[in-house]
Amino acid sequence: MSKKIAVTTPQSEVSPRPFAYRNRLLHCDEADLTALAAEHGTPLYVYSAQQISHRFQLFEAAFATRPHTICYAVKANSSLAILRLLGKQGAGFDIVSGGELKRVRKAHKPALKKVVFSGVGKQLWEIDAALEADILLFNVESEAELHLLAARAKALGKTARFALRVNPDVFAETHPYISTGLSEHKFGIGIKAARSIYRSAKKSKWLDPAGVSVHIGSQIRKVDPFAAALTRVTSLIADLRHDGHNIRYVDAGGGLGIDYGATAFDPAKQVAKYAAAITKGLGTEPANLLLEPGRFIVAQAGALLTRILYIKKNGTKTFVITDAGINDLIRPALYHAHHEIIPIKQPAGKSTFTADVVGPVCESGDFFARDRILPPVKPNDLILLLDAGAYGMSQTSNYNSRPRPAEVLIDNATTRLIRRRETMRDLLAPELL
Ligand code: LLP
Repeated sequence: MSKKIAVTTPQSEVSPRPFAYRNRLLHCDEADLTALAAEHGTPLYVYSAQQISHRFQLFEAAFATRPHTICYAVKANSSLAILRLLGKQGAGFDIVSGGELKRVRKAHKPALKKVVFSGVGKQLWEIDAALEADILLFNVESEAELHLLAARAKALGKTARFALRVNPDVFAETHPYISTGLSEHKFGIGIKAARSIYRSAKKSKWLDPAGVSVHIGSQIRKVDPFAAALTRVTSLIADLRHDGHNIRYVDAGGGLGIDYGATAFDPAKQVAKYAAAITKGLGTEPANLLLEPGRFIVAQAGALLTRILYIKKNGTKTFVITDAGINDLIRPALYHAHHEIIPIKQPAGKSTFTADVVGPVCESGDFFARDRILPPVKPNDLILLLDAGAYGMSQTSNYNSRPRPAEVLIDNATTRLIRRRETMRDLLAPELL
C-alpha cells in the first residue's frame, strides 16, 4: 500500500543508496543528475557500478567461510553491462530463459559454467542451448521437465546435472504475487514427492542428480523462513545421500528483501543476518552453496530519473504528471510497491504538499505514488524514483507505443550510456504491413 512518508534525503546514518545532494543538486556518486538528464534526456535509468559491486562483495564476504557461488538473478536487471560487471567479479548467474542464457554468453562467456537454469516452463530449444553451453545446474520444476531433460541430454550426448526445485511449504511474508514457497504455488515439486523422483532419475545415465534447490519468494524481510526452508532441504539431502545420490550442490535461491522506505537500513547487517539464517538451516551440510540474489544486489544502486510535465488539480486531488509511466516502472501498479521520490534540487525549506505522482499512460493504474507528501516542485523539475534498479528496466514495456528509457552506468567519475533510448524505428521494426 502506498505509505505516507515525508520526503527525506536518502542519507541516513548508514546510507543504503548512492544518491546524495552536493551544492543542493542530487548526484549519483560523482555524477550530477541534472547534467545527465540534459545529456541523455528523460526518463533515464541511472545506476552506480560501485554500489552494485559493493552489494555483491557483501554476499561474498558473508558466505566466505563455506564453498559457495553467488548466481545473480538475471531477471532483476539483465543489462549486459551490469552482467559483465558482476561476471568479472566472479558471479555466476541464475537464468530463467534461453534469452537470459544468450545475455550471459554475450556479457561474460566464462560465467556460463556457473549458470543455474530455473523456471517452470523450459522449452526444448532452451534446454538444448543450456546443455550445449554446459551450464552448472538445471533447476527442474516438474517430472515432465525431467523426462524432457533426460531425452535431450541423450540426444545431444551430454550429461545433465540437475537439482529438483523443491517446494518446502514455507510461508514467506511478502506480496502474494512474489511468494512462491507454498504448495498452492506453481513453483517446484512438493518436497515429499522429491525422494522418489530422484530415485527414478537414477535409471537414466544422462541425468546426474547433483543438487537440491529451493526458492521461497522475493522481497522477504524476515530471515527465519529461509532457515526453515533450508532445514527441510538439508533433511531431504540426508535422505538422498542415504539413497546413494552424490549431492554436491544446495541452491538456496534468492529473495532477500531491501527497505524501500526512508528509514536507515544497513545492508551489511541484513546480509549477515541472512547468512546466519542460511547457515543455521544448513547445519553441518557440506555441499556447495548456490545463492540467487537479484533485488538485493541491484535495487538500491539504481533509480529512475524523470521530468515533471504538468501539475494539475481534479477536485481536491493534485496530480504531478511525469514523463515516465507505468511502462517504464510497473512496480507501484503491480505490487502497490513503495518507491521514495526525491527532487533533484534540494528543497530549501520544509514546506510540502500532497499529490499523486502519475505517468502519461492511459490507465488509472499508471501511478508511482498516491497521496505522497512532496516538497514544492513545479513543471520541468526533475525528480528521482529511488530503488528502481531491480525489476525496473527489466519489466518495462512499449505500452502506449512508448520507447523504453535509456540507461547509464556511473563508475566514480565515468558515466557510460549502457543502453540508448529506444526510437520509434526500433518499435516499428518487427511489424509488417
Ligand atoms: N531465483 C528464482 C528462482 C526467482 O524466481 C527469483 C525471483 C530470484 C531468484 C531472485 O529473487 P530476488 O533476490 O530478486 O528477490 N518483479 C517482482 C519480483 C519478482 C521475483 C521473481 N523471482 C518485483 O518487482 O518485486
